[in-house]
Amino acid sequence: MFFLVIFIFNCAAKAGLSLNISDSCPSMCKCAPEEVIHCNRAGLRALPGEIAASTVSLNLSNNYLRILTTNTFRNLTFLHSLWLDGNNLTFLSPGTFHALSKLRELDLSRNSRLTYLHANTFRGLLNLISLDLSHCNIFEIHPLLFSHLPSLERLNLASNNMRYVPQAFSNLSSLTRLSLESNHIEAIGRDSLKDLESLYDLNLRKNRIWIIQNGAFTRLLRLGVLNLGHNFIADLPNQLFNGLIQLKTMHLEANRITDIDCTFRLLLNLRNLYLNNNQISSISDSAFSYLNKLHFLHLSKNNLSSLPLRLFVELPKLKYVFLSHNPWKCDCKMFWFLRWTAMFRGALEGLDCSFPNRHNTTALGGPQPGDPMDCTAPPELESKDKCGAAGISVAPGPPAPTSEVFLLVAICHTWYFARRWDTSAHPIC
Ligand SMILES: *[C@@H]1O[C@H](CO)[C@@H](O)[C@H](O)[C@H]1NC(C)=O
Ligand SMILES: *[C@@H]1O[C@H](CO)[C@@H](O)[C@H](O)[C@H]1NC(C)=O
Ligand SMILES: *[C@@H]1O[C@H](CO)[C@@H](O)[C@H](O)[C@H]1NC(C)=O
Ligand SMILES: *[C@@H]1O[C@H](CO)[C@@H](O)[C@H](O)[C@H]1NC(C)=O
Ligand SMILES: *[C@@H]1O[C@H](CO)[C@@H](O)[C@H](O)[C@H]1NC(C)=O
Ligand SMILES: *[C@@H]1O[C@H](CO)[C@@H](O)[C@H](O)[C@H]1NC(C)=O
Ligand SMILES: *[C@@H]1O[C@H](CO)[C@@H](O)[C@H](O)[C@H]1NC(C)=O
Repeated sequence: MFFLVIFIFNCAAKAGLSLNISDSCPSMCKCAPEEVIHCNRAGLRALPGEIAASTVSLNLSNNYLRILTTNTFRNLTFLHSLWLDGNNLTFLSPGTFHALSKLRELDLSRNSRLTYLHANTFRGLLNLISLDLSHCNIFEIHPLLFSHLPSLERLNLASNNMRYVPQAFSNLSSLTRLSLESNHIEAIGRDSLKDLESLYDLNLRKNRIWIIQNGAFTRLLRLGVLNLGHNFIADLPNQLFNGLIQLKTMHLEANRITDIDCTFRLLLNLRNLYLNNNQISSISDSAFSYLNKLHFLHLSKNNLSSLPLRLFVELPKLKYVFLSHNPWKCDCKMFWFLRWTAMFRGALEGLDCSFPNRHNTTALGGPQPGDPMDCTAPPELESKDKCGAAGISVAPGPPAPTSEVFLLVAICHTWYFARRWDTSAHPIC
């Protein structure tokens, strides 16, 4: 009898508890605690009415929501996070998020009918930090769309339908990460990215980029990672990456690059350089001259038959060099490489250069003068530092305090700082 009473009491308590939960929580959703509501995969076609005004986090992922109006979220003024990904959203009325001034995170990804966003869609989201609009079908963005988002730090526009870089990034001075990966962008204009002064990570991978105007990256002084991999880039003009003085990682793999000249000369902080899967057949001998911090160099899957003599001379930090899948020609031009490898402390991958006469002491030890294998002949005279010179020969006439000069000062400063105890002069300082 005693046990039966306890049993009944227990059941009643459980029933009471579950009643309480369903009181404050929409029936299709789970709430734990009350301020965190999960309604993902609940078959919702509209927002349930019973969502408490105190809700802080609302997960509406993977439902069938189609239209959001200015009333939908009007009462949810405490909301910090809102997930609307994987719905069927076709239209967001201007002002939909007007009341959500505390919202920090908004996910609108995977709404494949979302093609257009009104200029005032995001008005009121004064504290929004992260906005995900990836995997929709956006093809055009109103220039003022993001101008209401002064706190935005992360913006994901990957896998949409954009053919050009939207001219909508001018008020995003807090933005640190921007992804435009997997769109159909063909060109990057001089001014599209110029106001993104806090940007650290810019992802333009998997587009159709073949034109980049000089100066496009000049103002991105904080940029640490630039991904231009899997595009149609063929030319790398010498000024292209000017300004990227903090850049640590550059992805240019899987493009159509054939020559490397002096493009990288001002990337003083570069650590990782991805140039694999191109058609590079020529690299200028001072191409990497100032890359004092370069750790990883990826040159595999190109069309290289040799490397110039001075290429690795001033790369104190070089640790990994990837060279496989190139039509290496192991003749005297590459003889220096053999000696350099013997001294190199890092790892070298994929140069299958079995120097034909490497083990043939007759050929290497005693070549006849004029013999094609006569590797004792002095190498071609080292050319002057072409890239350094290119840096100062840009502005003929009276010197003006251009950014070029500023960057040159930066090079020299770095040089002298790094070699405080060394009195030798830098060739261009
Ligand atoms: C459940 O609801 C009753 C009144 O309906 C209330 O007195 C009680 O505190 C609630 N319990 C919980 C855990 O919220
Ligand atoms: C929201 O729900 C989806 C499942 O539909 C889940 O993948 C996601 O992690 C949830 N988000 C959060 C923040 O809980
Ligand atoms: C918002 O709250 C008011 C009362 O504060 C209420 O009358 C109205 O129905 C609520 N709107 C929604 C969409 O829940
Ligand atoms: C999504 O919305 C469209 C109309 O905009 C409708 O034709 C379609 O059936 C909807 N899909 C789902 C899964 O609800
Ligand atoms: C965008 O920034 C410019 C100055 O950079 C400012 O004049 C303008 O008012 C801003 N627009 C909005 C909508 O905040
Ligand atoms: C590879 O380079 C050689 C010259 O070194 C050139 O003749 C050839 O066309 C190049 N092949 C490709 C696929 O670019
Ligand atoms: C060494 O090189 C000479 C001249 O190139 C060649 O005639 C000879 O066969 C080579 N010997 C071996 C063992 O490869």
